[in-house]
Amino acid sequence: MSYLTVTNATKRFGPTFMALDGVSVSIERGEFFTLLGPSGCGKTTLLRAIAGFNDLTSGAIVLDGADLRTLPPHQRDIGMVFQDYAVFPHLSVFDNVGFGLKPRKVPAAELKIRVTEALDTVRLGAMAERLPAAMSGGQQQRIGLARAMVIKPRLLLMDEPLSNLDAKLRIELREEIRDIQKQVDIATIYVTHDQEEALAISDRICVMNAGKIEQVGTPQEIYGNPQTRFVAEFVGSINVFRPGSALDAMLAKLGHAPGGAATWTARPEHLALVEPDGQDSGAATLPGTVTKFTYLGREAHVQVDTPAGLLVVQIANPGMAATRHTGDAVAVVVPPSAPMAFGPDGARVKR
Ligand SMILES: Nc1ncnc2c1ncn2[C@@H]1O[C@H](COP(=O)(O)OP(=O)(O)OP(=O)(O)O)[C@@H](O)[C@H]1O
Ligand SMILES: [Mg+2]
Repeated sequence: MSYLTVTNATKRFGPTFMALDGVSVSIERGEFFTLLGPSGCGKTTLLRAIAGFNDLTSGAIVLDGADLRTLPPHQRDIGMVFQDYAVFPHLSVFDNVGFGLKPRKVPAAELKIRVTEALDTVRLGAMAERLPAAMSGGQQQRIGLARAMVIKPRLLLMDEPLSNLDAKLRIELREEIRDIQKQVDIATIYVTHDQEEALAISDRICVMNAGKIEQVGTPQEIYGNPQTRFVAEFVGSINVFRPGSALDAMLAKLGHAPGGAATWTARPEHLALVEPDGQDSGAATLPGTVTKFTYLGREAHVQVDTPAGLLVVQIANPGMAATRHTGDAVAVVVPPSAPMAFGPDGARVKR
């Protein structure tokens, strides 16, 4: 039995709209579990149902053997961190963090110890007496994190806690959140629509789309072995080969059965570029013309017009010699392991 199980959760808004449409997930003790998906897919709705702010239309939520749906929010022992910090501007950092302990009637001496410990964990120990207004967004979000942790929750929920921060701080703080989570060892459900953040921070990722789960897996499984076209496109990017004789010839060379109904795709980093007459014995090559070159520092994207459609090839660590110009004749190398096929319903077709 998992630590937290959500079974067949549905949430209907209005007569027909299903914000959650049969969602089941299991989360283990100490696990960092991320809900990843586009805006409106139901991430916050699921989190709020677990926290108790919104009940489900149907389904079960069981935490460590207890049926959560029968408990009011304040009896669920769940810590929550929100996108918009939600700190009290008139209270000191210390009092913000201690706030959650007041209704729990924690004696003053213990309160002091616990708040100090929580502030030290998020590295705000030296700022206990400051007012939040005098602090940066990253620091305010640490207050939110300390406040969620100080109640020693059985579960930590975080709803896009980094989305109001600038890119560099977001990366710093996500590393820190991961370290803190591992240190306090509290099962955590983290919501984001940022795929890179999800890959960086999670033990497992649950990719959601339109109220349903597309796939649950480790970051490596989600990125490396997507089970649906939606997951392949949402986490990373894919090229879609244009159907026709060039694609058929490529698949024949690679020994893949064409499978009439399938859409064939490949990730840009799984393709390579060679000179126009270049061949590769184990791979297929598609001749083409460069239509765009985008230099991004760590990598470059070369868009090539081929008989199997426009393909983007990602070049790692591009030096000067990797620069291509519009109109250059090249060939795209497609190794046998690169193509991924999806059926008309979007499900992965195993080759
Ligand atoms: N109280 C409500 N009444 C009606 N519809 C709602 C309500 N709350 C949410 N919805 C709808 O349910 C769907 C899921 O909303 P939810 O907030 O869970 O999405 P989300 O995945 O968290 O998106 P975002 O990334 O934008 O935060 C959306 O289409 C939203 O408009
Ligand atoms: Mg949301």
